Order: sequence, then structure tokens, then C-alpha cells
Amino acid sequence: MKIILTKDYQDMSRKAANIISAQVILKPDSVLGLATGATPVGIYRQLADWYRKGDLDFSCATTVNLDEYYGLSPEDEQSYHYFMEKHFFSKVNLRPEKHFLPDGTNPDGDAECARYEAQIDSLGGIDLQLLGLGHNGHIGFNEPSDAFAGSVHLVDLAGRTIEANKRFFPSAAAVPRQAYTMGVRTILRAKKILLAVSGEDKAQALYQTVKGAICPKVPASVLQLHPDVVVVADEAAAHKLAGGSF
Ligand code: GLP
Repeated sequence: MKIILTKDYQDMSRKAANIISAQVILKPDSVLGLATGATPVGIYRQLADWYRKGDLDFSCATTVNLDEYYGLSPEDEQSYHYFMEKHFFSKVNLRPEKHFLPDGTNPDGDAECARYEAQIDSLGGIDLQLLGLGHNGHIGFNEPSDAFAGSVHLVDLAGRTIEANKRFFPSAAAVPRQAYTMGVRTILRAKKILLAVSGEDKAQALYQTVKGAICPKVPASVLQLHPDVVVVADEAAAHKLAGGSF
């Protein structure tokens, strides 16, 4: 893993955006795997800014998102469809028919998982996957478990995840209890992975991800097995690490 240490959230966002930007410049028809949560908001803001200034062109790119809440429609303000539209899709020139997310409104879990996995396969896989990190070490919505889940699956959200994500909902009770998410194998098949991490509250999870045993109790630790992972972390998140390459 390559670790890039940054000063603060803004610095982290710019450096991570630089890596995505380089990917799109080098390969305009890239398939970008995208993430939600508070962490990538600054990255999307920076990319949109460079697009406005004429430095970036997303017209040939395709995007696939990691996850979506079960039961939420794209019009729902708490859905990841809505989040992506608000923070990124509406701000750049990605073509609407070329961004993909799991369909939270599909009640048939098996059918939706198979459909979304096939969708990603049909695009030829992911060139660069952006990830955030959950407090419990989750990536996408791959929660701590006894085994790594391979492909796209419907997951029961952990209590800690519901607690962490209630800030986006009127109350904890309003947070959906399930979500569709890319599995660990889906994520590891990406050619390059960019893990963005900010804040002291992520320091322990980041330490376990980078330095801990590879174990499904800390799903992000599986990233140690991927040959091309870049972690961009701010000082607060990275203070338990020594720095440099791991
Ligand atoms: C959610 C998302 C993850 C994200 C995580 C951390 O659970 N499914 O993809 O990485 O939250 O979010 P935040 O960046 O807000 O801490």
C-alpha cells in the first residue's frame, strides 16, 4: 500500500481528487467506482471545480457506485442516488446513462445483486475505485463478519453503522436496516483502489486496515492483498501510522 499523508481534510480532498483527475486524463473512458459518505464530498467538490475551469472532461467516463440503501428510491433525499446527483453528477458532464448504482427499490435481493454484478462485469470492470472507511473498518457496506462476502450482496447494517449514518436521517429509526453493496471480491477486482480517510475518529480503523491482520472482522484489511492501493489520509486519521509505504 502506498500511504499519502496530508495536512487536513481539504488537503486530503485535493490530493485524492488529483489521483482521480490523473486517471481520467490518462484514460478518458475510465470506469470510476464511486463512494458516498462525508469523506468524498470535498473530493467531488474539487473535481467539479476543475471541470468548471475546463481542466477535466468526464464525457467519456462511466461510474459505478459501491452501494445503495435497500428500499430507498432515487428521489429519496437520503438515498445514495440523490447524494451522487447532488454532489457530483449534476456538477460535471458525466452522461446520465453512464452512471450506475444498485437499485434500492428492487425488493428481490438475489435478482438485484446478480443484475448489478453483471452490470459491472459488462463494463469490463473498474479502473479506479474510490473508497471511504467506516469506523468499524467497513468498505462500501461490507460489515465486520466471520467471512468476506464476495460479490454484490444485500447486507444487514451493523448497529455502529446505523449510529454513524443517522446524522443523514431524521433519526436512527429512519436509517434503513439493509443495503445493497459491492462485495469484497467486486472491490478487489478494481485495477486501482483509492482509500480516502479523514479525522481522528477513523485512526483506529485505519491502523487496523494498514497494519492489522487481514481478517473479515476488519473488512478493509483485505485491501492489503491488492497490488495497487493508494491511501490518502489526513494527519488526524493517520497519526497511529508511521508514514511512508507499507
Ligand atoms: C457509509 C458508506 C461507506 C462510507 C462510510 C464512511 O457507510 N456506505 O461507503 O465509506 O459510510 O462514511 P463517512 O465518510 O461519512 O465517514
